[in-house]
Amino acid sequence: MSVYSGMKAASPAANTICDLRSDTVTRPDAAMLRAIAGAEVGDDVYGEDPDVNRLQAETAELLGKEAGLFLPSGTQSNLVAVLSHCGRGDEVILGGAYHVYLHEAAGASVLGGVALCPVPVGPSGGVAPGDVTGAIKPDDPHHPVSRLLSLENTVNGQAVPLADMRAATEAARTAGLSVHLDGARFFNAVTALGCAPADLAGLVDTVSVCLSKGLGAPVGSVLVGPADLIARGLRLRKMLGGGMRQAGILAAAGRHALTHNRAGLAEDHTRAARLAKALGDLGVGQVSHATNMVFFTPAADGHADLRAALAAQGIVIGGQSPAIRMVLHRDVDDAALDRAIAAFRAHYGG
Ligand SMILES: Cc1ncc(COP(=O)(O)O)c(C=O)c1O
Repeated sequence: MSVYSGMKAASPAANTICDLRSDTVTRPDAAMLRAIAGAEVGDDVYGEDPDVNRLQAETAELLGKEAGLFLPSGTQSNLVAVLSHCGRGDEVILGGAYHVYLHEAAGASVLGGVALCPVPVGPSGGVAPGDVTGAIKPDDPHHPVSRLLSLENTVNGQAVPLADMRAATEAARTAGLSVHLDGARFFNAVTALGCAPADLAGLVDTVSVCLSKGLGAPVGSVLVGPADLIARGLRLRKMLGGGMRQAGILAAAGRHALTHNRAGLAEDHTRAARLAKALGDLGVGQVSHATNMVFFTPAADGHADLRAALAAQGIVIGGQSPAIRMVLHRDVDDAALDRAIAAFRAHYGG
């Protein structure tokens, strides 16, 4: 069952104290709201919004890229990236479990005439260089033109090691392909890998970074890469309806998140490990965790009963089955996590 179909099964109630469905549910805190209120704003479609321009430049610099583009969502950012790299009849090779393949409504195919060629995702979350090479088509009129490798990091919370990323990108580059990274949780990956942002971003041509997940901004992603690709992306963003006028109120939140909220991701990872340990100690199912995500598969059925029991205590989890995904984020502090663990223990009599 998809992570997304599970979301609809559970909605937060008025008494919610801990919403573990996703790191997208965070709300701006007082400091972020002050940053939003202080935005200068101008018309970003004219290129005149100072906070948008600063956000784009700062993100590009942080990741060691020439230019950046602020977009309303990770999905649009990935789509603009793919359409900037590829034309009609071209092909993207990508992990069959990745978001761009499974959860973005095949936008690149529907809107751009770009074929999506899935390859297996290995235990590390990466794709094997041999699978990349094997998927690249020879120059033959029967085939689409293999143009781009699209990677993801983190993948279901897993931080894909730099060595695995490098091996896949080298296989792609040897055949003349460019490489895009869906870095929806780029800074979770960097935090877990213990590397500099530019070390990960330097392996690929373009990176899409979400501000609205663990970083805690309400809306927005930034696509970074070479200046000519980002210039093409600007036209595509307009075409897709992503030109946002006085977007500085959102960019100010994003700039605040990049400056102040990156450090807190390590705490989310620690809390995910704590939740996983507590669930493992109960001995009532399979548990795994990586960065800010915990996956719990109860040994016995009873997902709906568990969800109802937790909801009664103000703890919201998704409706996925068999594995329930729980995501730690900046709106779940130690006290809220203690309440969640206590509610699990009470339900399972632990
Ligand atoms: C790995 C990954 N990529 C891309 C996206 C798309 O982001 P958005 O929801 O902002 O479109 C998500 C959203 O959860 C994601 O998890």
